[in-house]
Amino acid sequence: MRLLGVCSLLSAAALVSAAHLPPRNYTTHDYYAVHLSAATSPTELAAHLGLDYEGTLGALDDHHVFRAPKHDHDIVDDAVQELKRRRRKRELSQEAHLLDNIRFTQKQKIKPRHWKRNVIPRIDSPVSDAVQAQRDVATELNISDPIFEEQWHIFNTKTPGNDLNVTDVWLQGITGKNVTACIVDDGLDMDSDDLKDNFFAEGSYDFNDHVVLPKPRLSDDRHGTRCAGEVAAGRNNACGVGVAYDSKISGVRILSGDITDMDEALAINYELQQNHIYSCSWGPPDDGKTMQGPGILIEKAMVTAVQQGRGGKGSIYVFAAGNGAAADDNCNFDGYTNSIYSITVGAIDKNNLHPYYSEACSAQLVVTYSSGSGDSIHTTDVGTNKCTGQHGGTSAAGPIGVGTFALVLQANPNLTWRDVQWLTVMTAVPFDQPSDWTKTTLGRSYSHQFGYGKLDAYAIVEAAKTWKLVKPQVWFWSPWMHVKQSIPQGDHGLASVFEVTEQMLKDANFERVEHITLTMNIEHKRRGDLSVELISPDNMTSHLSTARRDDEAPYGYVDWTFMSVAHWGEKGIGKWTVIVKDAIVNEHEGTFTDWKLRLWGEAIDGSKTELLPIPTEHDDDDHDVIDDHPAHTTSVNIPSGTPSVTANPADHPDRPVNQKPSNTQQAADPSSTAAFETPISASPSSTPSSTPSATALPNNFLPSPFPTFGVSKRTQIWIYGSIGLILVFCASLGTYLFLVGRKGSGADRDDYEFEILDDADDDEGGARTGMLNGAAGGRKGRRAKRGGELYDAFAGESDEDLLSDSDGEDGPYTDRQEREYDEKADVREGSEAEGSSSSGSATGNRL
Ligand SMILES: *[C@@H]1O[C@H](CO)[C@@H](O)[C@H](O)[C@H]1NC(C)=O
Ligand SMILES: *[C@@H]1O[C@H](CO)[C@@H](O)[C@H](O)[C@H]1NC(C)=O
Ligand SMILES: *[C@@H]1O[C@H](CO)[C@@H](O)[C@H](O)[C@H]1NC(C)=O
Ligand SMILES: *[C@@H]1O[C@H](CO)[C@@H](O)[C@H](O)[C@H]1NC(C)=O
Ligand SMILES: *[C@@H]1O[C@H](CO)[C@@H](O)[C@H](O)[C@H]1NC(C)=O
Ligand SMILES: *[C@@H]1O[C@H](CO)[C@@H](O)[C@H](O)[C@H]1NC(C)=O
Repeated sequence: MRLLGVCSLLSAAALVSAAHLPPRNYTTHDYYAVHLSAATSPTELAAHLGLDYEGTLGALDDHHVFRAPKHDHDIVDDAVQELKRRRRKRELSQEAHLLDNIRFTQKQKIKPRHWKRNVIPRIDSPVSDAVQAQRDVATELNISDPIFEEQWHIFNTKTPGNDLNVTDVWLQGITGKNVTACIVDDGLDMDSDDLKDNFFAEGSYDFNDHVVLPKPRLSDDRHGTRCAGEVAAGRNNACGVGVAYDSKISGVRILSGDITDMDEALAINYELQQNHIYSCSWGPPDDGKTMQGPGILIEKAMVTAVQQGRGGKGSIYVFAAGNGAAADDNCNFDGYTNSIYSITVGAIDKNNLHPYYSEACSAQLVVTYSSGSGDSIHTTDVGTNKCTGQHGGTSAAGPIGVGTFALVLQANPNLTWRDVQWLTVMTAVPFDQPSDWTKTTLGRSYSHQFGYGKLDAYAIVEAAKTWKLVKPQVWFWSPWMHVKQSIPQGDHGLASVFEVTEQMLKDANFERVEHITLTMNIEHKRRGDLSVELISPDNMTSHLSTARRDDEAPYGYVDWTFMSVAHWGEKGIGKWTVIVKDAIVNEHEGTFTDWKLRLWGEAIDGSKTELLPIPTEHDDDDHDVIDDHPAHTTSVNIPSGTPSVTANPADHPDRPVNQKPSNTQQAADPSSTAAFETPISASPSSTPSSTPSATALPNNFLPSPFPTFGVSKRTQIWIYGSIGLILVFCASLGTYLFLVGRKGSGADRDDYEFEILDDADDDEGGARTGMLNGAAGGRKGRRAKRGGELYDAFAGESDEDLLSDSDGEDGPYTDRQEREYDEKADVREGSEAEGSSSSGSATGNRL
């Protein structure tokens, strides 16, 4: 592992030095991100196509950037298609051609803006008791910063104990030395008295204005500077102090102007040896109806960073959970926060209460302090000596996490990206607030609303000092489980089971679970009606997706990947049950098409592991590919107790890949919603006749006089709903096992067929080979094919609403977004963004 680290360090260093591309000008030029086979000369390709060769694409192996004067067509892809066409017509021989070396190409498009995740806070009048203790600590640490006393998240004199518990860490001299955090945001005021001494220029860049220093230039470019202050404001006479006040801070500016996927990929890999932690307080719109993830180049960048960054120990990504809770949003609909490579940080307020905005999801790892209950975060602002008491939202929670991880890395620089996540799981502190707290196999408490609890800087740093590093990452993937059944409406579910055997995990060198991801396809006429649960062999339930009242998208989930950290430490052996529900009885119906479970975790034998292949755009296209692993699966109508038959992994050797109905959707496409309105009917040819239809039973299986546990009514519903499901499911399972026992090996699998589509377009770029390779943690999918099109084209419409509610300061973003994203193609793919899926209303339930 160490050796590997060194090797990747060397190769990364070589690449990174070449990574500084000339500034881009999207007004005058087009840019192409192209993955070439290793031996191919990019300059030769440039000459062949009449392009300018700009340089390598950051840290991505064999990826290059080319430039051409602005042009409607896609020069690279058109050339590739033309070559294919001429070969088909026999105008050209099959001999190798230079263009055959193109493994992936993507013309860069301006993408819709991310949303900053700050929320306008309200201030109340502080009262205090512990002021003397706070003053003593300040004296001992020689802190004379004028607003230190207001920084309750560091030392809370108003509600004592409700803070980061960090001062005893500082007293040990652990203040972030030798650690650099990079604030990926709208700039960083490096001339601020509070930041200038810790500013690290080499790790900084402005991807909006294409200049070296990320100076805030727009009137509302304050967000990044405020976040930076939370992490690394110096111990001096300006404002307050950062959580890691001796760490270095760099800034990468991406939120204040047009960028493309390529820029974003470069940004989150910027100087990945010198920037150790990337702080990301932004993401797709938190409007309760968006389902978006990073484009393929960005996924590649994240995987590259965890494999090569920080000398091979892995860059640390910290993402703000999102501010859409009041709109039923859920961080599992955001492909950044639900990536296994990011630490998702949600917010609690100074009273340890859940603030109305902070999103819940099974991908959330931890929470920390931010605005609510009448106060917010006090930090540095843009200006020479300017402070603010108005920083809030999950945007303000994320950087407190970043500062804490900087302390952790000073205490133990050997930690890998996964060790940092382990330490967070093991030391976060659950607190006394009603929520769906559940004991996990590791003995930790997990809540979808609060993750493993709140960060305690002292606890995590102490644990880091003596932490035994985890062995390398391995993974186990189920085959695609084909369910193909309609989803009953009401309080019922349609369940499908995959059993992981001891042997499977042994063969995969898999010791214990860290993350799980579940990629799925559901066709549905109203996405917001859906919710999905996953029950592990240890009986832990992840609410992967939750209903969203405003999510009207007339298709379901398309190759969307959900993630959960709730199964951390489980063995993984036994039955994994996914339950899809459509709780709302209406005309919008749907079909659960298929799913694939991925377990990610620690190796049994660390010497026998390899790195995950860098993801490709076709990773989830293998729905019908035969898998090595025999699978036993069934679909169960939860309430009926009568299992229906098979759903099953792919054993259709002669069926070409990529025939899925969702491809039709994609091909048919969205500029008109009408395309979506035609339901894609699954498999006319032969549905298993034995499949019982979903029988809706009355929802009366829960006797009423149940104890309340002192939690809210909603939480009770949550708890009892789960128990009921488990009970009913077990009954179903019994029946199913009985049936399976009699049924034998499932010879009649061919009972459904998909329409054969003409997807000639589909294999452009020749990337098919990547099909079976690794998938990144997040969402992705066929829709994601063209990276520039991944974003929600409708996002702009709702910006204003949200911003006016939560952050008046961000208004200008909305304007720009609407003005700039009217391209038809963007609209077309935009709404579904990268093939993600959605769902998210758990938050509402839990509020
Ligand atoms: C791009 O080029 C145009 C025309 O030369 C120029 O007006 C504009 O300022 C340039 N933009 C950037 C960001 O360099
Ligand atoms: C906070 O830090 C102190 C040491 O300063 C430690 O004793 C205590 O356990 C920490 N709090 C929690 C909740 O762990
Ligand atoms: C910081 O790094 C330098 C050089 O790598 C090393 O000499 C020094 O001991 C480190 N300081 C701390 C506090 O870890
Ligand atoms: C305390 O900080 C001030 C500046 O804020 C500095 O001048 C002084 O030397 C420091 N004293 C100690 C003991 O560190
Ligand atoms: C980090 O690794 C080095 C080299 O293996 C070792 O000497 C050092 O003690 C480790 N540090 C910690 C805090 O574990
Ligand atoms: C899970 O719950 C079922 C039914 O309640 C029980 O039979 C089984 O033993 C439980 N499994 C574990 C690992 O707790």
